[in-house]
Amino acid sequence: KDGSFVIMDYKQLVADALAPTMADTLSADDIYKKIERPKDSSMGDYAFPTFTLAKTFRKAPQQIATDLVEQLDQSKFEKVQVAGPYINFFLDKAAFSADILAQVSAQGADFGQNENGKGGNVPIDMSSPNIAKPISMGHLRSTVIGNSIAEILKKNGYNPIKDNHLGDWGTQFGKLIVAYLKWGNEDDVKKDPITNLVKYYVKFHQEDKEHPELDDEAREWFKKLEDGDAEAHRLWSWFRDESLKAFNQIYDKLGVTFDTYNGEAFYNDKMQAVIDELKEKGLLKESQGAQVVDLSKYDLNPALILKSDGASLYITRDIATAVYRDKTYHPAMNLYVVGSEQMYYFQQLKAVLTEMGLASAKDLHHIPFGLITVDGKKLSTRSGRIILLDEVLDDSIAMAKKQIAEKNPDLPNKDEVAKQVGVGAIIFGDLKNERMNSIDFNLADQLKFEGETGPYVQYARARAESILRKAADVTPAGENATINDPEAWETVKTLADFPAIVEEALADFEPSDIAKYSIRLAKAFNKYYAHSKILADDAEKPARLALVKSVSTILKESLRLLGVQAPDEM
Ligand code: ARG
Repeated sequence: KDGSFVIMDYKQLVADALAPTMADTLSADDIYKKIERPKDSSMGDYAFPTFTLAKTFRKAPQQIATDLVEQLDQSKFEKVQVAGPYINFFLDKAAFSADILAQVSAQGADFGQNENGKGGNVPIDMSSPNIAKPISMGHLRSTVIGNSIAEILKKNGYNPIKDNHLGDWGTQFGKLIVAYLKWGNEDDVKKDPITNLVKYYVKFHQEDKEHPELDDEAREWFKKLEDGDAEAHRLWSWFRDESLKAFNQIYDKLGVTFDTYNGEAFYNDKMQAVIDELKEKGLLKESQGAQVVDLSKYDLNPALILKSDGASLYITRDIATAVYRDKTYHPAMNLYVVGSEQMYYFQQLKAVLTEMGLASAKDLHHIPFGLITVDGKKLSTRSGRIILLDEVLDDSIAMAKKQIAEKNPDLPNKDEVAKQVGVGAIIFGDLKNERMNSIDFNLADQLKFEGETGPYVQYARARAESILRKAADVTPAGENATINDPEAWETVKTLADFPAIVEEALADFEPSDIAKYSIRLAKAFNKYYAHSKILADDAEKPARLALVKSVSTILKESLRLLGVQAPDEM
Protein backbone atom coordinates (compact mmCIF):
# COMPACT_ATOMS: atom_id res chain seq x y z
CA LYS A 1 0.00 0.00 0.00
CA ASP A 2 1.49 3.35 -0.96
CA GLY A 3 -0.50 5.46 1.48
CA SER A 4 -0.95 8.28 -0.97
CA PHE A 5 -4.67 8.30 -1.65
CA VAL A 6 -6.05 11.76 -2.20
CA ILE A 7 -9.67 10.81 -1.99
CA MET A 8 -12.35 13.00 -0.55
CA ASP A 9 -15.24 10.64 -0.84
CA TYR A 10 -14.49 7.30 0.73
CA LYS A 11 -17.84 5.91 -0.21
CA GLN A 12 -16.73 6.41 -3.80
CA LEU A 13 -13.69 4.26 -3.08
CA VAL A 14 -16.00 1.45 -2.02
CA ALA A 15 -18.21 1.97 -5.06
CA ASP A 16 -15.15 1.92 -7.34
CA ALA A 17 -14.01 -1.37 -5.87
CA LEU A 18 -17.45 -2.92 -6.37
CA ALA A 19 -18.24 -1.54 -9.81
CA PRO A 20 -16.09 -3.89 -11.93
CA THR A 21 -17.61 -6.93 -10.21
CA MET A 22 -21.14 -5.98 -11.32
CA ALA A 23 -20.46 -4.19 -14.57
CA ASP A 24 -23.34 -5.94 -16.34
CA THR A 25 -25.99 -5.62 -13.67
CA LEU A 26 -25.68 -2.39 -11.69
CA SER A 27 -24.56 1.08 -12.70
CA ALA A 28 -21.78 2.72 -10.70
CA ASP A 29 -24.37 5.22 -9.51
CA ASP A 30 -26.75 2.57 -8.23
CA ILE A 31 -23.94 0.86 -6.41
CA TYR A 32 -22.95 4.12 -4.79
CA LYS A 33 -26.51 4.73 -3.63
CA LYS A 34 -26.78 1.31 -2.02
CA ILE A 35 -23.69 1.69 0.13
CA GLU A 36 -24.50 2.15 3.79
CA ARG A 37 -22.63 3.37 6.83
CA PRO A 38 -22.98 0.89 9.66
CA LYS A 39 -23.76 2.44 13.03
CA ASP A 40 -21.33 0.11 14.74
CA SER A 41 -17.80 0.27 13.33
CA SER A 42 -17.23 -3.42 14.12
CA MET A 43 -19.38 -3.89 11.01
CA GLY A 44 -16.87 -1.91 8.98
CA ASP A 45 -16.71 1.69 7.86
CA TYR A 46 -19.00 1.00 4.91
CA ALA A 47 -21.32 -1.84 4.08
CA PHE A 48 -22.86 -3.03 0.85
CA PRO A 49 -26.13 -4.95 1.23
CA THR A 50 -26.72 -7.81 -1.20
CA PHE A 51 -30.24 -8.97 -0.34
CA THR A 52 -31.88 -6.74 -2.95
CA LEU A 53 -29.75 -8.43 -5.61
CA ALA A 54 -30.99 -11.97 -5.04
CA LYS A 55 -33.45 -11.83 -7.92
CA THR A 56 -30.97 -10.39 -10.39
CA PHE A 57 -28.21 -12.85 -9.55
CA ARG A 58 -30.53 -15.80 -8.83
CA LYS A 59 -28.45 -16.57 -5.80
CA ALA A 60 -28.74 -16.30 -2.05
CA PRO A 61 -27.60 -12.89 -0.75
CA GLN A 62 -24.82 -14.39 1.36
CA GLN A 63 -23.52 -16.29 -1.70
CA ILE A 64 -23.59 -13.09 -3.75
CA ALA A 65 -21.57 -11.34 -1.05
CA THR A 66 -19.04 -14.14 -0.94
CA ASP A 67 -18.65 -14.20 -4.74
CA LEU A 68 -18.26 -10.44 -5.03
CA VAL A 69 -15.64 -10.28 -2.30
CA GLU A 70 -13.59 -12.91 -4.14
CA GLN A 71 -13.58 -10.78 -7.27
CA LEU A 72 -12.99 -7.31 -5.92
CA ASP A 73 -9.72 -5.46 -5.52
CA GLN A 74 -9.14 -5.22 -1.77
CA SER A 75 -5.80 -3.46 -1.90
CA LYS A 76 -7.13 -0.10 -0.71
CA PHE A 77 -8.82 -1.50 2.39
CA GLU A 78 -7.63 -2.84 5.70
CA LYS A 79 -10.01 -5.72 5.18
CA VAL A 80 -13.18 -6.65 3.34
CA GLN A 81 -15.44 -9.29 4.83
CA VAL A 82 -18.78 -10.97 4.38
CA ALA A 83 -21.32 -10.69 7.20
CA GLY A 84 -24.60 -12.33 6.22
CA PRO A 85 -26.17 -10.41 3.34
CA TYR A 86 -23.58 -7.63 3.67
CA ILE A 87 -20.07 -6.91 2.50
CA ASN A 88 -18.27 -4.89 5.15
CA PHE A 89 -15.42 -2.62 4.14
CA PHE A 90 -12.78 -1.55 6.64
CA LEU A 91 -10.70 1.42 5.56
CA ASP A 92 -6.93 1.46 5.95
CA LYS A 93 -6.63 3.58 9.11
CA ALA A 94 -3.00 4.62 8.80
CA ALA A 95 -3.22 5.59 5.14
CA PHE A 96 -6.51 7.41 5.52
CA SER A 97 -5.59 9.34 8.62
CA ALA A 98 -2.43 10.53 6.87
CA ASP A 99 -4.41 11.48 3.79
CA ILE A 100 -7.13 13.40 5.60
CA LEU A 101 -4.85 15.16 8.04
CA ALA A 102 -2.53 16.22 5.22
CA GLN A 103 -5.48 17.72 3.37
CA VAL A 104 -6.95 19.58 6.34
CA SER A 105 -3.50 20.80 7.41
CA ALA A 106 -2.76 22.12 3.94
CA GLN A 107 -6.18 23.63 3.25
CA GLY A 108 -7.17 24.83 6.71
CA ALA A 109 -10.64 26.37 6.76
CA ASP A 110 -10.85 25.94 2.97
CA PHE A 111 -11.19 22.19 3.45
CA GLY A 112 -14.56 21.21 1.96
CA GLN A 113 -14.71 24.22 -0.35
CA ASN A 114 -15.99 23.25 -3.79
CA GLU A 115 -16.73 25.14 -6.99
CA ASN A 116 -20.01 23.44 -7.87
CA GLY A 117 -21.78 26.81 -8.03
CA LYS A 118 -19.32 28.26 -10.56
CA GLY A 119 -19.81 31.73 -9.08
CA GLY A 120 -23.52 31.84 -9.92
CA ASN A 121 -25.57 34.59 -8.26
CA VAL A 122 -28.13 33.48 -5.70
CA PRO A 123 -30.38 36.15 -4.22
CA ILE A 124 -31.62 35.06 -0.81
CA ASP A 125 -34.72 36.76 0.45
CA MET A 126 -34.27 36.59 4.21
CA SER A 127 -35.27 38.09 7.53
CA SER A 128 -37.70 40.56 5.92
CA PRO A 129 -39.48 41.88 9.02
CA ASN A 130 -42.27 44.38 8.80
CA ILE A 131 -41.65 48.03 9.51
CA ALA A 132 -43.30 49.35 12.67
CA LYS A 133 -43.66 45.89 14.12
CA PRO A 134 -41.37 43.92 16.39
CA ILE A 135 -39.06 41.49 14.70
CA SER A 136 -40.46 38.12 15.72
CA MET A 137 -38.92 34.76 16.48
CA GLY A 138 -40.07 33.74 13.00
CA HIS A 139 -37.97 36.53 11.53
CA LEU A 140 -35.09 35.33 13.68
CA ARG A 141 -35.40 31.91 12.11
CA SER A 142 -35.41 33.42 8.64
CA THR A 143 -32.40 35.56 9.52
CA VAL A 144 -30.24 32.80 10.92
CA ILE A 145 -31.33 30.12 8.45
CA GLY A 146 -30.82 32.52 5.54
CA ASN A 147 -27.47 33.68 6.84
CA SER A 148 -26.26 30.12 7.20
CA ILE A 149 -27.52 29.12 3.76
CA ALA A 150 -25.61 32.10 2.35
CA GLU A 151 -22.38 30.80 3.93
CA ILE A 152 -23.12 27.28 2.73
CA LEU A 153 -23.71 28.65 -0.77
CA LYS A 154 -20.31 30.35 -0.73
CA LYS A 155 -18.69 27.15 0.45
CA ASN A 156 -20.25 25.49 -2.60
CA GLY A 157 -18.90 28.11 -4.98
CA TYR A 158 -21.98 30.32 -5.37
CA ASN A 159 -22.25 34.06 -4.92
CA PRO A 160 -25.11 34.69 -2.46
CA ILE A 161 -26.84 38.08 -2.32
CA LYS A 162 -28.55 38.51 1.03
CA ASP A 163 -31.59 40.71 0.54
CA ASN A 164 -33.71 41.98 3.40
CA HIS A 165 -37.10 42.30 1.72
CA LEU A 166 -38.55 44.61 4.36
CA GLY A 167 -42.31 44.77 4.72
CA ASP A 168 -42.26 48.52 4.29
CA TRP A 169 -45.24 49.00 1.97
CA GLY A 170 -48.91 48.26 1.96
CA THR A 171 -52.26 49.52 3.20
CA GLN A 172 -51.16 49.16 6.84
CA PHE A 173 -48.99 52.24 6.38
CA GLY A 174 -52.09 54.25 5.61
CA LYS A 175 -53.52 53.04 8.92
CA LEU A 176 -50.31 53.81 10.74
CA ILE A 177 -50.17 57.35 9.38
CA VAL A 178 -53.78 57.99 10.41
CA ALA A 179 -53.14 56.55 13.87
CA TYR A 180 -49.95 58.54 14.34
CA LEU A 181 -51.58 61.81 13.28
CA LYS A 182 -54.46 61.20 15.67
CA TRP A 183 -52.81 59.70 18.74
CA GLY A 184 -49.07 59.76 18.17
CA ASN A 185 -46.22 61.64 19.73
CA GLU A 186 -42.89 62.35 18.07
CA ASP A 187 -40.70 61.96 21.15
CA ASP A 188 -42.27 58.62 22.05
CA VAL A 189 -41.53 57.26 18.60
CA LYS A 190 -37.93 58.44 18.82
CA LYS A 191 -37.49 56.90 22.25
CA ASP A 192 -39.01 53.52 21.55
CA PRO A 193 -40.16 53.31 17.93
CA ILE A 194 -41.47 49.78 17.71
CA THR A 195 -43.42 49.73 20.96
CA ASN A 196 -45.13 53.02 20.20
CA LEU A 197 -45.83 52.38 16.54
CA VAL A 198 -47.39 49.05 17.49
CA LYS A 199 -49.44 50.84 20.11
CA TYR A 200 -50.84 53.26 17.52
CA TYR A 201 -51.58 50.44 15.13
CA VAL A 202 -53.38 48.42 17.79
CA LYS A 203 -55.40 51.48 18.76
CA PHE A 204 -56.38 51.96 15.14
CA HIS A 205 -57.82 48.46 15.06
CA GLN A 206 -59.72 49.02 18.28
CA GLU A 207 -61.17 52.30 17.07
CA ASP A 208 -62.04 51.30 13.53
CA LYS A 209 -64.63 48.83 14.77
CA GLU A 210 -66.79 51.72 15.90
CA HIS A 211 -65.49 54.26 13.41
CA PRO A 212 -65.31 52.56 10.05
CA GLU A 213 -64.60 55.93 8.42
CA LEU A 214 -61.05 55.53 9.77
CA ASP A 215 -60.54 52.82 7.18
CA ASP A 216 -61.45 55.22 4.39
CA GLU A 217 -58.98 57.75 5.74
CA ALA A 218 -56.30 55.08 5.90
CA ARG A 219 -56.98 54.03 2.34
CA GLU A 220 -56.63 57.62 1.21
CA TRP A 221 -53.31 58.03 2.99
CA PHE A 222 -51.93 54.89 1.44
CA LYS A 223 -53.04 56.09 -1.96
CA LYS A 224 -51.22 59.38 -1.27
CA LEU A 225 -48.15 57.42 -0.26
CA GLU A 226 -48.25 55.42 -3.47
CA ASP A 227 -48.64 58.62 -5.47
CA GLY A 228 -45.60 60.21 -3.82
CA ASP A 229 -47.32 62.79 -1.58
CA ALA A 230 -44.60 64.62 0.40
CA GLU A 231 -46.16 64.45 3.87
CA ALA A 232 -47.15 60.80 3.52
CA HIS A 233 -43.65 59.99 2.30
CA ARG A 234 -41.96 61.92 5.11
CA LEU A 235 -43.89 60.04 7.81
CA TRP A 236 -43.45 56.69 6.16
CA SER A 237 -39.75 57.18 5.68
CA TRP A 238 -39.33 58.29 9.30
CA PHE A 239 -41.19 55.19 10.59
CA ARG A 240 -38.95 53.11 8.37
CA ASP A 241 -35.70 54.67 9.58
CA GLU A 242 -36.64 54.35 13.23
CA SER A 243 -37.72 50.74 12.77
CA LEU A 244 -34.53 49.89 10.91
CA LYS A 245 -32.46 51.31 13.74
CA ALA A 246 -34.18 48.92 16.10
CA PHE A 247 -33.78 45.96 13.71
CA ASN A 248 -30.11 46.73 13.16
CA GLN A 249 -29.44 46.45 16.87
CA ILE A 250 -30.60 42.87 16.65
CA TYR A 251 -28.73 42.11 13.44
CA ASP A 252 -25.57 43.52 15.05
CA LYS A 253 -26.01 41.24 18.03
CA LEU A 254 -26.58 38.26 15.77
CA GLY A 255 -23.62 39.26 13.62
CA VAL A 256 -25.71 39.14 10.45
CA THR A 257 -25.26 41.61 7.61
CA PHE A 258 -27.20 42.08 4.39
CA ASP A 259 -26.11 43.01 0.90
CA THR A 260 -29.32 44.86 0.08
CA TYR A 261 -32.35 46.16 1.94
CA ASN A 262 -34.67 46.30 -1.02
CA GLY A 263 -37.99 46.21 0.77
CA GLU A 264 -41.41 46.13 -0.81
CA ALA A 265 -41.40 49.93 -1.25
CA PHE A 266 -38.36 49.67 -3.51
CA TYR A 267 -40.65 48.05 -6.08
CA ASN A 268 -43.40 50.69 -5.96
CA ASP A 269 -42.20 52.29 -9.20
CA LYS A 270 -41.51 48.93 -10.82
CA MET A 271 -45.00 47.52 -10.53
CA GLN A 272 -46.71 49.24 -13.41
CA ALA A 273 -44.33 47.61 -15.88
CA VAL A 274 -45.14 44.25 -14.37
CA ILE A 275 -48.88 44.87 -14.55
CA ASP A 276 -48.49 45.94 -18.18
CA GLU A 277 -46.52 42.78 -18.90
CA LEU A 278 -49.18 40.63 -17.26
CA LYS A 279 -51.81 42.38 -19.39
CA GLU A 280 -49.82 42.04 -22.59
CA LYS A 281 -49.36 38.35 -21.98
CA GLY A 282 -53.09 38.02 -21.49
CA LEU A 283 -52.69 36.79 -17.93
CA LEU A 284 -54.80 39.39 -16.10
CA LYS A 285 -58.50 38.69 -15.74
CA GLU A 286 -61.16 40.75 -14.11
CA SER A 287 -62.96 39.25 -11.17
CA GLN A 288 -65.49 41.31 -9.20
CA GLY A 289 -63.69 44.50 -10.13
CA ALA A 290 -60.31 43.18 -9.12
CA GLN A 291 -57.51 41.90 -11.39
CA VAL A 292 -56.43 38.29 -10.94
CA VAL A 293 -54.24 35.67 -12.60
CA ASP A 294 -56.04 32.40 -13.07
CA LEU A 295 -53.99 29.47 -11.74
CA SER A 296 -56.48 26.65 -12.10
CA LYS A 297 -54.08 24.71 -14.30
CA TYR A 298 -51.75 24.57 -11.29
CA ASP A 299 -54.64 23.54 -9.08
CA LEU A 300 -54.24 26.79 -7.19
CA ASN A 301 -56.60 29.62 -6.33
CA PRO A 302 -56.35 32.69 -8.54
CA ALA A 303 -53.71 35.22 -7.51
CA LEU A 304 -55.17 38.60 -6.69
CA ILE A 305 -52.89 41.19 -8.33
CA LEU A 306 -54.82 44.46 -8.05
CA LYS A 307 -57.68 45.27 -5.71
CA SER A 308 -60.81 46.89 -7.12
CA ASP A 309 -59.55 50.31 -5.93
CA GLY A 310 -56.37 49.71 -7.94
CA ALA A 311 -54.18 49.13 -4.87
CA SER A 312 -51.30 46.68 -5.26
CA LEU A 313 -50.79 43.73 -2.99
CA TYR A 314 -48.00 41.75 -1.39
CA ILE A 315 -47.85 39.45 -4.42
CA THR A 316 -47.79 42.36 -6.87
CA ARG A 317 -44.64 43.57 -5.19
CA ASP A 318 -43.19 40.07 -5.08
CA ILE A 319 -43.69 39.68 -8.82
CA ALA A 320 -41.89 42.97 -9.42
CA THR A 321 -39.15 41.80 -7.05
CA ALA A 322 -38.63 38.54 -8.90
CA VAL A 323 -38.53 40.32 -12.26
CA TYR A 324 -36.00 42.81 -10.89
CA ARG A 325 -33.77 40.07 -9.46
CA ASP A 326 -33.99 38.17 -12.71
CA LYS A 327 -32.78 41.17 -14.71
CA THR A 328 -30.20 42.35 -12.20
CA TYR A 329 -28.55 39.08 -11.19
CA HIS A 330 -29.43 36.43 -13.78
CA PRO A 331 -29.76 34.14 -10.76
CA ALA A 332 -28.56 30.55 -10.69
CA MET A 333 -31.21 30.07 -7.99
CA ASN A 334 -33.78 32.28 -6.33
CA LEU A 335 -34.21 31.58 -2.64
CA TYR A 336 -36.89 32.74 -0.22
CA VAL A 337 -36.41 31.89 3.44
CA VAL A 338 -39.91 32.47 4.75
CA GLY A 339 -42.07 30.61 7.27
CA SER A 340 -44.10 27.59 6.21
CA GLU A 341 -47.37 29.49 6.67
CA GLN A 342 -46.58 31.16 3.33
CA MET A 343 -46.12 27.87 1.48
CA TYR A 344 -49.30 28.20 -0.55
CA TYR A 345 -48.51 31.81 -1.33
CA PHE A 346 -45.11 30.91 -2.77
CA GLN A 347 -46.69 28.22 -4.91
CA GLN A 348 -48.94 30.90 -6.35
CA LEU A 349 -46.02 33.28 -6.83
CA LYS A 350 -43.97 30.63 -8.61
CA ALA A 351 -46.95 29.74 -10.80
CA VAL A 352 -47.53 33.36 -11.84
CA LEU A 353 -43.82 33.80 -12.63
CA THR A 354 -43.83 30.57 -14.60
CA GLU A 355 -46.84 31.79 -16.60
CA MET A 356 -44.93 35.00 -17.30
CA GLY A 357 -42.07 32.91 -18.64
CA LEU A 358 -39.54 34.32 -16.18
CA ALA A 359 -36.22 32.49 -16.63
CA SER A 360 -35.47 32.16 -12.94
CA ALA A 361 -38.94 30.87 -12.01
CA LYS A 362 -37.67 27.35 -12.56
CA ASP A 363 -35.05 27.55 -9.84
CA LEU A 364 -37.17 29.48 -7.41
CA HIS A 365 -37.16 27.74 -4.05
CA HIS A 366 -39.26 28.68 -1.11
CA ILE A 367 -37.28 27.49 1.91
CA PRO A 368 -39.94 27.19 4.60
CA PHE A 369 -39.48 26.55 8.28
CA GLY A 370 -41.71 25.62 11.18
CA LEU A 371 -43.11 27.59 14.06
CA ILE A 372 -41.18 28.53 17.10
CA THR A 373 -42.64 28.59 20.56
CA VAL A 374 -41.03 29.61 23.81
CA ASP A 375 -41.77 27.28 26.68
CA GLY A 376 -44.73 25.89 24.78
CA LYS A 377 -46.36 29.25 24.00
CA LYS A 378 -46.89 30.58 20.56
CA LEU A 379 -45.41 33.96 19.76
CA SER A 380 -47.65 36.55 18.32
CA THR A 381 -47.69 40.29 18.05
CA ARG A 382 -51.46 40.54 17.86
CA SER A 383 -52.40 38.75 21.06
CA GLY A 384 -50.21 41.09 23.03
CA ARG A 385 -47.70 38.41 23.87
CA ILE A 386 -44.69 39.92 22.19
CA ILE A 387 -41.39 38.27 22.80
CA LEU A 388 -38.81 40.80 21.78
CA LEU A 389 -35.86 39.18 20.25
CA ASP A 390 -33.30 41.50 21.71
CA GLU A 391 -34.58 40.63 25.16
CA VAL A 392 -34.16 36.94 24.45
CA LEU A 393 -30.63 37.60 23.21
CA ASP A 394 -29.77 39.69 26.27
CA ASP A 395 -31.13 37.02 28.60
CA SER A 396 -29.05 34.43 26.84
CA ILE A 397 -25.87 36.50 27.08
CA ALA A 398 -26.49 37.13 30.79
CA MET A 399 -27.01 33.41 31.44
CA ALA A 400 -23.87 32.55 29.50
CA LYS A 401 -21.94 35.07 31.52
CA LYS A 402 -23.04 33.47 34.76
CA GLN A 403 -21.99 30.04 33.61
CA ILE A 404 -18.62 31.23 32.40
CA ALA A 405 -17.98 33.04 35.67
CA GLU A 406 -18.55 29.75 37.48
CA LYS A 407 -16.61 27.54 35.11
CA ASN A 408 -13.68 29.75 34.27
CA PRO A 409 -13.50 32.70 36.68
CA ASP A 410 -10.05 33.76 35.46
CA LEU A 411 -11.02 34.14 31.82
CA PRO A 412 -9.83 37.60 30.80
CA ASN A 413 -12.39 38.48 28.08
CA LYS A 414 -15.50 37.16 29.86
CA ASP A 415 -17.88 39.67 28.32
CA GLU A 416 -16.82 38.97 24.79
CA VAL A 417 -16.99 35.21 25.31
CA ALA A 418 -20.40 35.51 27.00
CA LYS A 419 -21.69 37.24 23.89
CA GLN A 420 -20.27 34.56 21.60
CA VAL A 421 -21.71 31.79 23.76
CA GLY A 422 -25.06 33.45 24.53
CA VAL A 423 -25.80 34.44 20.96
CA GLY A 424 -24.28 31.24 19.59
CA ALA A 425 -26.57 29.17 21.82
CA ILE A 426 -29.66 30.76 20.29
CA ILE A 427 -28.47 30.47 16.70
CA PHE A 428 -27.30 26.91 17.20
CA GLY A 429 -30.45 26.02 19.16
CA ASP A 430 -32.44 27.01 16.12
CA LEU A 431 -30.22 25.60 13.38
CA LYS A 432 -29.65 22.15 14.86
CA ASN A 433 -33.30 21.33 14.10
CA GLU A 434 -34.43 20.34 10.68
CA ARG A 435 -35.93 23.59 9.58
CA MET A 436 -39.46 22.28 8.99
CA ASN A 437 -39.70 21.03 12.55
CA SER A 438 -41.43 23.26 15.00
CA ILE A 439 -39.22 24.21 17.89
CA ASP A 440 -40.10 24.76 21.46
CA PHE A 441 -37.30 26.92 22.63
CA ASN A 442 -35.97 26.58 26.13
CA LEU A 443 -33.12 28.95 26.65
CA ALA A 444 -31.63 27.20 29.67
CA ASP A 445 -31.41 23.92 27.74
CA GLN A 446 -29.68 25.52 24.78
CA LEU A 447 -27.07 27.10 27.04
CA LYS A 448 -25.96 23.85 28.64
CA PHE A 449 -22.36 22.90 28.01
CA GLU A 450 -23.46 19.29 27.69
CA GLY A 451 -25.93 17.85 25.23
CA GLU A 452 -26.56 18.91 21.68
CA THR A 453 -25.93 22.61 22.08
CA GLY A 454 -23.86 25.40 20.63
CA PRO A 455 -21.84 25.81 23.83
CA TYR A 456 -21.04 22.09 23.73
CA VAL A 457 -19.49 22.40 20.27
CA GLN A 458 -17.76 25.67 21.17
CA TYR A 459 -16.39 24.04 24.30
CA ALA A 460 -15.01 21.03 22.42
CA ARG A 461 -13.23 23.40 20.08
CA ALA A 462 -11.89 25.53 22.95
CA ARG A 463 -10.61 22.31 24.52
CA ALA A 464 -8.77 21.46 21.30
CA GLU A 465 -7.22 24.94 21.31
CA SER A 466 -6.17 24.49 24.91
CA ILE A 467 -4.40 21.22 24.06
CA LEU A 468 -2.57 22.98 21.25
CA ARG A 469 -1.52 25.76 23.61
CA LYS A 470 -0.17 23.22 26.07
CA ALA A 471 1.82 21.51 23.32
CA ALA A 472 3.07 24.70 21.74
CA ASP A 473 6.60 23.30 21.67
CA VAL A 474 5.66 20.51 19.25
CA THR A 475 4.68 21.27 15.65
CA PRO A 476 1.63 19.34 14.47
CA ALA A 477 2.53 17.03 11.61
CA GLY A 478 1.60 18.26 8.15
CA GLU A 479 2.50 15.27 6.01
CA ASN A 480 2.59 11.67 7.17
CA ALA A 481 0.34 12.20 10.17
CA THR A 482 -0.29 8.49 10.52
CA ILE A 483 -2.47 7.59 13.46
CA ASN A 484 -2.86 3.95 14.40
CA ASP A 485 -4.78 4.51 17.63
CA PRO A 486 -8.23 2.93 17.13
CA GLU A 487 -9.67 5.48 19.59
CA ALA A 488 -8.92 8.21 17.05
CA TRP A 489 -10.61 6.48 14.16
CA GLU A 490 -14.12 7.89 14.61
CA THR A 491 -12.73 11.42 14.75
CA VAL A 492 -10.58 10.93 11.65
CA LYS A 493 -13.51 9.50 9.72
CA THR A 494 -15.83 12.27 10.83
CA LEU A 495 -13.35 14.89 9.62
CA ALA A 496 -13.33 13.17 6.24
CA ASP A 497 -17.12 13.49 6.03
CA PHE A 498 -17.06 17.28 6.04
CA PRO A 499 -16.87 17.97 2.26
CA ALA A 500 -19.85 15.69 1.60
CA ILE A 501 -21.84 17.34 4.40
CA VAL A 502 -21.17 20.75 2.84
CA GLU A 503 -22.76 19.55 -0.40
CA GLU A 504 -25.62 17.79 1.31
CA ALA A 505 -26.49 20.84 3.41
CA LEU A 506 -26.92 22.86 0.24
CA ALA A 507 -28.83 20.18 -1.63
CA ASP A 508 -31.40 20.08 1.21
CA PHE A 509 -31.07 23.75 2.17
CA GLU A 510 -30.50 22.39 5.64
CA PRO A 511 -28.12 24.17 7.99
CA SER A 512 -29.08 21.43 10.45
CA ASP A 513 -26.88 19.05 8.44
CA ILE A 514 -23.89 21.21 9.41
CA ALA A 515 -25.04 21.64 13.02
CA LYS A 516 -25.59 17.90 13.47
CA TYR A 517 -22.25 17.23 11.88
CA SER A 518 -20.52 19.61 14.28
CA ILE A 519 -22.12 17.80 17.22
CA ARG A 520 -20.95 14.48 15.80
CA LEU A 521 -17.39 15.74 15.38
CA ALA A 522 -17.35 17.31 18.85
CA LYS A 523 -18.66 14.06 20.38
CA ALA A 524 -16.10 11.92 18.58
CA PHE A 525 -13.33 14.25 19.62
CA ASN A 526 -14.43 14.39 23.27
CA LYS A 527 -14.46 10.63 23.37
CA TYR A 528 -11.02 10.46 21.84
CA TYR A 529 -9.79 13.03 24.34
CA ALA A 530 -11.18 10.99 27.23
CA HIS A 531 -9.66 7.70 26.07
CA SER A 532 -6.25 8.69 24.71
CA LYS A 533 -3.21 10.45 26.06
CA ILE A 534 -2.92 13.07 23.38
CA LEU A 535 -0.04 14.87 25.04
CA ALA A 536 2.08 11.76 25.72
CA ASP A 537 5.62 12.19 24.39
CA ASP A 538 5.89 9.50 21.78
CA ALA A 539 6.42 9.24 18.04
CA GLU A 540 2.73 9.74 17.20
CA LYS A 541 2.42 13.01 19.12
CA PRO A 542 2.88 15.33 16.09
CA ALA A 543 0.26 13.27 14.26
CA ARG A 544 -2.15 13.48 17.19
CA LEU A 545 -1.63 17.20 17.38
CA ALA A 546 -2.37 17.42 13.67
CA LEU A 547 -5.65 15.67 14.41
CA VAL A 548 -6.45 18.05 17.26
CA LYS A 549 -5.64 21.03 15.07
CA SER A 550 -7.76 19.67 12.23
CA VAL A 551 -10.68 19.13 14.60
CA SER A 552 -10.35 22.69 15.86
CA THR A 553 -10.25 24.02 12.30
CA ILE A 554 -13.30 22.10 11.14
CA LEU A 555 -15.36 22.75 14.27
CA LYS A 556 -14.67 26.45 13.88
CA GLU A 557 -15.47 26.29 10.18
CA SER A 558 -18.72 24.39 10.84
CA LEU A 559 -19.77 26.97 13.40
CA ARG A 560 -18.85 29.74 10.98
CA LEU A 561 -21.12 28.20 8.36
CA LEU A 562 -23.90 28.47 10.93
CA GLY A 563 -23.06 32.05 11.82
CA VAL A 564 -21.78 31.06 15.28
CA GLN A 565 -18.49 32.28 16.67
CA ALA A 566 -15.86 30.09 18.26
CA PRO A 567 -13.98 31.48 21.27
CA ASP A 568 -10.44 30.12 21.70
CA GLU A 569 -10.98 29.83 25.41
CA MET A 570 -14.13 29.59 27.49
N1 ARG B 1 -42.52 40.67 5.48
C1 ARG B 1 -43.05 39.35 5.34
C2 ARG B 1 -43.55 38.83 6.69
O1 ARG B 1 -43.07 39.25 7.72
C3 ARG B 1 -42.05 38.38 4.80
C4 ARG B 1 -41.52 38.70 3.43
C5 ARG B 1 -40.92 37.52 2.78
N2 ARG B 1 -40.36 37.78 1.49
C6 ARG B 1 -41.05 37.91 0.34
N3 ARG B 1 -40.41 38.18 -0.76
N4 ARG B 1 -42.36 37.74 0.30
O2 ARG B 1 -44.40 37.95 6.69
